[in-house]
Amino acid sequence: MNKTEFPKDFLWGTSISAYQAEGGLLDGGRKESVADYSTRKEGYADNSVTSDFYHHYKEDIALLGELGAKTFRFSLAWPRIIPDGEGEINPEGIRFYHQVLDELEKYGIEPIVTLFHYDLPLTLQKKYGGWKNRAVIDAFVDFVRVCLTEFGGRIKKFLTINEPDILTMYGGHGLDFAGKEEFAETKLIINHHFALAHARAVRLCHELVPDAMIGPVFGYVPVYPATCDPEDVIAAKNISDIQNSFFQELFLNGIYMENVLQFYEGRCLPPDIEAGDMELLQSAKSDLIALNYYKSDVAKACPEEEEEREMGGNIGGKKGTFVYAKMPGYYEMCPNPMLRRTDWDWEIDATGIRCMLRDVYYRYRLPVIITENGVAAFEHYEGETVEDDYRIDYHRKHLAACKKAIMEGVNLIGYCTWTFIDLLSTGHGFCKRYGLVYVNRTDEEELDLKRVPKKSYYWYRDTIKNGGADL
Ligand code: BG6
Repeated sequence: MNKTEFPKDFLWGTSISAYQAEGGLLDGGRKESVADYSTRKEGYADNSVTSDFYHHYKEDIALLGELGAKTFRFSLAWPRIIPDGEGEINPEGIRFYHQVLDELEKYGIEPIVTLFHYDLPLTLQKKYGGWKNRAVIDAFVDFVRVCLTEFGGRIKKFLTINEPDILTMYGGHGLDFAGKEEFAETKLIINHHFALAHARAVRLCHELVPDAMIGPVFGYVPVYPATCDPEDVIAAKNISDIQNSFFQELFLNGIYMENVLQFYEGRCLPPDIEAGDMELLQSAKSDLIALNYYKSDVAKACPEEEEEREMGGNIGGKKGTFVYAKMPGYYEMCPNPMLRRTDWDWEIDATGIRCMLRDVYYRYRLPVIITENGVAAFEHYEGETVEDDYRIDYHRKHLAACKKAIMEGVNLIGYCTWTFIDLLSTGHGFCKRYGLVYVNRTDEEELDLKRVPKKSYYWYRDTIKNGGADL
């Protein structure tokens, strides 16, 4: 390979998730999931219709074909395939995803599929109390078995659980169905169960579909020290261990980092490690690592006597309202004066993606793929297109940084923009748009759901066509 180019078989792609894009909640035999409740927020659209991919998938995949996408990353909705989470399989749900795969095949687009992207079937939540109960792991493994058996002939890249790190750090997404306090107390138990579910899925995939690849998806956030003061450097390392390495070591090596377990002592219950768990985790060898990247963080030292402060997300998109967390004795997060931020106060940092790729690849030596990378904005369609030059700039710079990482030896096999079509954000409604394709609706009104490719769609199409030669 010429090291100044993207590999010939590079997977140029784009991404969605089921609960954020499909809609059709009770169509085709799907039943409710916890996400159907967690998305109900005053003033915002919920996931009942969202982009209505369930009814528009043919049109959407045709647009993917015109884009020249080599891959499409989406998730299989557990409540569509096994509506109660365990037991009966829904043939209509299976048929729907076969139809999606038929369309992708028509355009020669390789599917990359996430097995869990937050839509835990409501029945399982009610019966077992959700992921804190090991019974949910068994149910998940049965669901994975159905997916592998049904689709293993057509899907050769599977991802297990989307962002266990972000889920454990910040909760939400239905994990706190029984209340925030219960989640805060049991989060390491839930995470341990995610890791076990991941490990069993990896082993099952190797057994049932040996020619497929499977791995975890991390929501990695690189952390820079605020200054070269060694105390700031260790503070940055503290939070990076807590939010990044802890999960990578657990999911990829089956190891618990002692310093992070110590950090959690007295803050929440420890993971419920039973005999055989660690052996299982260590035996499950992933084939690839998927990474979602949006932003970087900055940390500085925080003296013991300071008062703790929780992170407060900027939900409304009003710049400057983000509240930075403070953990006395560990770290204090702070803004980065060197970087611009989105309206939701997410730092825009293309070099961060290169830091992440080098860090992860040189530690684990597995093929890596970017499964999410994108920038959100408030956008309006006024009968023409959407001139999202800032998104072009964002992807151009992030892809250029990926190219540098490839030149430096990182085995990066693909890049998916988040998102393909506009869809429901996890916490900020429909007005926080990431898509290459505008979907004509607002938080208040469904409108006609018309698809309008934005300027970035055409830029990405040309970039794919020339193999990233201009980056
Ligand atoms: C990732 C998730 O954490 O970030 C996606 O995998 C999510 O589901 C994306 O949509 C962006 O976050 P948000 O809150 O802006 O939708």
